[in-house]
Amino acid sequence: MDSEIRLVVDGTPHSLSVDTRTTLLDALRERLQVTSPKKGCDHGQCGTCTVLLEGRRHLTCLALAVAHDGAEIVTAAGLGEGEGEEQGELHPMQRSFLEHDGYQCGYCTPGQVCSAVGMLEEARQGHPSHVTGDLTADVDLDDAEIRERMSGNLCRCGAYPGILAAVRQAAGR
Ligand code: FES
Ligand code: FES
Repeated sequence: MDSEIRLVVDGTPHSLSVDTRTTLLDALRERLQVTSPKKGCDHGQCGTCTVLLEGRRHLTCLALAVAHDGAEIVTAAGLGEGEGEEQGELHPMQRSFLEHDGYQCGYCTPGQVCSAVGMLEEARQGHPSHVTGDLTADVDLDDAEIRERMSGNLCRCGAYPGILAAVRQAAGR
C-alpha cells in the first residue's frame, strides 16, 4: 500500500508516494537522492544513517517514512549556512571534524556530525547520560560523557581520537 507524504529536507520541500514499509533512510536515499545519510547496518546498530529530525538526532533506518509525514529533516549536507549552491559556510562541528581529522574514509562522518550536533543540544538541555554523576548539576561534557553520548556512532576506520577531539572542541572545551 502506498501513501503520499511530504518531507522538508535541508530546507527543500518534497512530496512523494511511498510504500508504507519504506524506511525514512530509503525514502531519502532511493527516492529523493539525498545521499548524505549512509546505510551501514540498516538495523539501528551503527549510527551512520543519523539525521536531525525535528531538531533531534534520529536513526533513519529504524524510522518509517509514513510516520514522519510533514517532518523537517536536516542532514549533514544541510548543516552549513546558506542553501543550495549558495551553501558555503561549514557548520562549526564540520569545521572541527576537518581540523582534527575526525574521519578517514568518511563513510560514518555525516552520521557522526549530525549525532554530535544533536548530542550537544541534548547536553545543553540537561539530559543525563549513563555516565552522568550529578543529576542536579549542569552536564559537564568531559571525555567520558562525549564517548558515552557518541557511543551509538561506530567508525570502522577507528578515527575515534580525532572524533573525540573534534566534538570536544565544538563543545567548547
Ligand atoms: Fe542506521 Fe546503521 S544504518 S544505524
Ligand atoms: Fe571510515 Fe568512520 S571514517 S568508517
